[in-house]
Amino acid sequence: MENTHLSGASPSEIQAHYDVSNDFYQLWLDPQLIYSAALWNETEPEASLEQAQYQKLAYHLQQAQAQKAEYVLDIGCGWGALLSEVLKQPNIQQAVGLTLSQAQKDYFEAQPNLQSTPQAQEQAEVQAEVRLESWENYHPARPLDAVISIGAFEHFARPGMSPSEKQAAYTAFFQRVCEWLRPEGRLSLQTIGYGPISEAMKVKLSGLNQAVFPGSELPTLLELLAAADPFLELLQMRNDRHDYAKTCQLWRKNLRAAKATIEAQYGPALYKRYNEYLMASEMGFRLGHLHLYRLTFQKGKGLPS
Ligand SMILES: C[S@@+](CC[C@H](N)C(=O)[O-])C[C@H]1O[C@@H](n2cnc3c(N)ncnc32)[C@H](O)[C@@H]1O
Repeated sequence: MENTHLSGASPSEIQAHYDVSNDFYQLWLDPQLIYSAALWNETEPEASLEQAQYQKLAYHLQQAQAQKAEYVLDIGCGWGALLSEVLKQPNIQQAVGLTLSQAQKDYFEAQPNLQSTPQAQEQAEVQAEVRLESWENYHPARPLDAVISIGAFEHFARPGMSPSEKQAAYTAFFQRVCEWLRPEGRLSLQTIGYGPISEAMKVKLSGLNQAVFPGSELPTLLELLAAADPFLELLQMRNDRHDYAKTCQLWRKNLRAAKATIEAQYGPALYKRYNEYLMASEMGFRLGHLHLYRLTFQKGKGLPS
C-alpha cells in the first residue's frame, strides 16, 4: 500500500476494527458479510436480514446504472459482496474494490466463487480485483461508468479536524470521484451522518464512535452536500435511519446468540464492546440522532474526465 498521508482513518485504525477476525464477523453479520445498513421495502417489512441486505445491494446497483456499466469501482468494498454482484452485470469489463483491511482482502481472494461468475467467465473471463488501497491513492486506468461506496464515507474524516479541514477532506473525495467518472457516470453513496443534534450531543456521539471506530468522524448532511455540490449533480436522496436501527437490532440478536462462543474465543470485553455499540447505534438511529443517507449523484455531461 502506498504510504501517503490519509485524511481519514489510517490503515492501522481501520484494521483495529475490521481485522478482529473474519470468523468473528461471520458469527453475527449475514452470510455475505455485509457490514452496513440493509434496505427493507415498505411492502416487505418481514424480509430477513439477508434478503434486506441483498435489496440494498440491488438498490445501489440500480442507482449507479450498473446494468449498462463496463467499469465499476467499489470504494470500501468490505468482504466483497457488492463486487460479486457487479460481476453479474451484463456489460461488465472491470470491477475493482478498495479496502484498507488486509483480512477483508484475504477473505475475498480465498473465495473464487466471489471473484468471478459463470456468466462472466463465459463472456470474457472478467474478474474482480480487491486492492489494499485508499481512494486517495487510487488511479483508474480508464474513465469509470459507476462508483459505489457503502458505509465507508464514515471513515474519510478524523476526529479533531477543524471545520475547514473536514470540508477539504470531503471535497477532495467528490472532486476525485468526479475526475474518475465519465460524463453522466453515477456515484451511489451510502453513509451515516449526524442528525439535528446539539454540539454537546455530537461530542458525546463522536466519543462513542471513536471508541469503536478509531480515527473516524461522521459528516453532517450539509458538510456532505457542500463538498459534493461543485462537482456532482444530486439526483436522489433518502434518509433510511429506521433501516439502520433494524439492522443493528438484528446484528445484536445474532451477537447475543453467539455470546458464549465470542466470549470463549475473543474474551468478554470484546463481546461487551460490540453489544454496547450496537445497542447505542440502534438507539441513535431510532431517536434521529443518527441518520442513514443514500444519495445518488451524476457527473454533468460537460465536465471533463
Ligand atoms: C463498514 S465497512 C463497509 C463494507 C461494505 N461496503 C459493506 O457495506 O459491507 C467500511 C469499509 O470501508 C473501507 N475503508 C475505510 N477507509 C477507506 C479508504 N480511505 N479507502 C478505501 N476504503 C476504505 C474499510 O476498509 C471497509 O472495507
